[in-house]
Amino acid sequence: MTERPWLSIILAAGLGTRMKSALPKVMHAVAGRPMIAHVAAAARTAGAEGLAVVIGPEMEGISDALHEFAPAAAFVVQVERLGTAHAVLAARSIIAGFDGDVVILYGDTPLLLPDTIVRLRMALAAGAGLAVLGFEAADPTGYGRLILDESGALLAVREEQEASETERAIKLCNSGVMAFRAAHMLPILDRIGRSNAKGEYYLTDAIEIAREAGIGVAVEIATEQEVLGVNDRAQLAMAESIIQHRLRLAALAEGATLIAPDTVTFSHDTRLGRDVIIEPNVFFGLRVTVEDNVHIRANCHFEGAHIREGAIVGPFARLRPGADIGPDTRIGNFVEVKASTIEKGSKVNHLSYIGDARVGPKVNIGAGTIVCNYDGFNKHVTEIGAGAFVGSNSALVAPVKIGEGAYIGTGSVITRDIEPDALALERNELKQIPGWAARFRARHGK
Ligand code: UD1
Ligand code: MG
Repeated sequence: MTERPWLSIILAAGLGTRMKSALPKVMHAVAGRPMIAHVAAAARTAGAEGLAVVIGPEMEGISDALHEFAPAAAFVVQVERLGTAHAVLAARSIIAGFDGDVVILYGDTPLLLPDTIVRLRMALAAGAGLAVLGFEAADPTGYGRLILDESGALLAVREEQEASETERAIKLCNSGVMAFRAAHMLPILDRIGRSNAKGEYYLTDAIEIAREAGIGVAVEIATEQEVLGVNDRAQLAMAESIIQHRLRLAALAEGATLIAPDTVTFSHDTRLGRDVIIEPNVFFGLRVTVEDNVHIRANCHFEGAHIREGAIVGPFARLRPGADIGPDTRIGNFVEVKASTIEKGSKVNHLSYIGDARVGPKVNIGAGTIVCNYDGFNKHVTEIGAGAFVGSNSALVAPVKIGEGAYIGTGSVITRDIEPDALALERNELKQIPGWAARFRARHGK
């Protein structure tokens, strides 16, 4: 592989009107992160040293959001949308000062793989001045067609509107991904005109100009799926399903068992250990880590949670951001945990809410126990010491501490700290009236 440095220019100035959205198209998420972040990540993984993103003027406000995903990216604004070559030239000052390779990517093709970018760069390393990524389109309508000679050399890319009948029959199309030697780039781009059907500066004109100048042009091929461009919500859903398929295969390859893979939804950053078993219908939001030997039962929803080794979670559990589920714990059905640590061997098995709490090891939280962490203004902390037993249907009103080994009687409302090893019982004395029920029925003729 060549040692030449390289940078990527991501074109993202398109309005994306077919998304029918207030959000710029490239900010729509697949697998939990914006499409443009997938593209930026592919460039980074392939080794890009620099990243420039071409955005439209109405998108300036989103550069902050983009920075979160591509911290080193430079943003350039294309004021008028005059075509793909014009968009690349918005980054003229970046190209002019650069001696290496430049790879053009589109912000709305989130499925592109880093290896494909590497292949294009290898074509440049082998001597080409320009490399184009093509694909066989099932239906080529709308794409630029790759015009090859008998030897397979690329002569030109013909846009749909300029193509002849014969050229339109060609199924080999331009994906839009292109790699240039930076040194050749500006002289080529500056020669591109706009006397064509759309009146736009076509980046694809670069091929013929390069050939005339004696610059070698190479073609690499990708699958149609990999270069899928997202223009509307149906294509967004298709991209999501393809990326989910990839993430499921990766999870299986890394040693997780998915009983019904198609029903499990991952985020791009989901981390799974070995011998994790995931039952059907589980949703992983962003920032979830699952350690080895965890069993996730059916129908769970996770986000920002860490599930430690040997825990059994679900069915129907909800783990929200900051849930730290300790080793060998049990989190059962209809349990919600938020911003809480649950230490080794503790059990929260049925119908509980645990929020802003620190639950020590070997604690048993009975069915229906609720931590009352919010007073309408502030969130308060609950601490439950090691080995404590919280009886069913208790309400722990935070801030409150339950001492180690304490025992909370069923149905208690705990408003003060409880000493270690104490019994806390908050309950009216039971009243029993013998024969009352029978007399009541008799009064009603039963
Ligand atoms: C382009 C290619 C075509 C290729 C197709 C693949 C050209 C002339 N044509 O056509 O060969 O088959 O992509 O999808 O390059 N953009 C800007 N500023 C502009 C124009 C476009 O940033 O002024 C961005 C868009 O946001 C988009 C990308 O460039 O990410 C492609 O633009 P688009 O208008 O979709 O080009 P196509 O006509 O589809
Ligand atoms: Mg397009």
